[in-house]
Amino acid sequence: MYETAEQVAEALRGQDYVIDSDLAVVVLLATRLERPLLLEGPAGVGKTELAKSLALASGRRLIRLQCYEGLDDGRALYEWDYGKQLLHVQMLRDRIGETLADAPDMASAAKRLRDQDTGLYSEHFLSVRPLLETVLSEDPVVLLVDEVDRTEESMEALLLEVLAERQITVPEVGTFTARSTPWVVLTSNDTRELSPALKRRCLHFHVDFPDAARETEIVSRRAPEVADDLIGDVVELARKLREMPLRKPPSISEVVDAARAAAVLGGVERGPLLATLLKYSSDVDLATRRLAGDAEPEPEVPVAKDEWVTPSRPRNTTTAAFRGRGGNNSNRYDQPRRGRR
Ligand SMILES: Nc1ncnc2c1ncn2[C@@H]1O[C@H](COP(=O)(O)OP(=O)(O)O)[C@@H](O)[C@H]1O
Ligand SMILES: [Mg+2]
Repeated sequence: MYETAEQVAEALRGQDYVIDSDLAVVVLLATRLERPLLLEGPAGVGKTELAKSLALASGRRLIRLQCYEGLDDGRALYEWDYGKQLLHVQMLRDRIGETLADAPDMASAAKRLRDQDTGLYSEHFLSVRPLLETVLSEDPVVLLVDEVDRTEESMEALLLEVLAERQITVPEVGTFTARSTPWVVLTSNDTRELSPALKRRCLHFHVDFPDAARETEIVSRRAPEVADDLIGDVVELARKLREMPLRKPPSISEVVDAARAAAVLGGVERGPLLATLLKYSSDVDLATRRLAGDAEPEPEVPVAKDEWVTPSRPRNTTTAAFRGRGGNNSNRYDQPRRGRR
């Protein structure tokens, strides 16, 4: 159990995870208040990695529910293991034969079979999926519900129910109540808005790309063999690229790859580095042009000034409230922080 945000940050550093100080506060609160933590933000900013590192740092087992379109109860909660049930019936075949031998007709044989307890619908024949596994676990775990924005809303409703009730009912068997309290981390890549009910239940944090100092530390921890000046150059290049209107801005892991590539090449050669940092040829073309300095003029889109200054993204209300300084937006935009009036 962590007492301070610094302890959280230190424990995660032990797993080579370099956390933003505001996020460390929210992680502390999530673990102390035992509230689920919802991390939203673009791909590749370290949301999934945070849950994994938290599990390693705390010695808790990680249980992961990877969400996707079409994820259903059978994959999230439990399924009956038909193969095992069938085998069980085959092993009981002789006994079933004896029991039914003197039944006068099919209807009474079927009834007699129904009245027998064959044990087919017991815990033994359940295929346990991540949510039930979490509820059943004797030891406290970290439950990672990854990319929750990829499921349908019905799955969100199910999640909400399990998170709120901390129990799961299997009609044939009964209700299982959580044996320990999990730390729950949900991630979303922001492809759709999550339901207000889910957001209400969670502590919420918008994770963004790190500032230069933190990204440099991340890369030097993940690629310790690369010289510091090379890392600095690669990070700077990645930050320039993220300011361009790309289809896919470079993620942190791509920056780590690019740093390793720079070490192999013995310097920051733009061509090969762009190939590791960018995933679309149209992005490579645009970046090459802009970096060469012959940027095309920006298309003239009339936008009201305060519209383009204000980033349209959710506020990190949890940290803001905790620190008592009103909902300021996150660090990326380096806006002056206003105190409460
Ligand atoms: N704060 C961080 N500290 C250390 N490594 C990080 C951090 N953030 C991201 N990474 C690196 O970036 C990779 C991708 O992060 P990931 O958690 O998969 O992103 P997301 O889930 O946000 O899409 C991780 O495997 C890790 O190597
Ligand atoms: Mg992820």
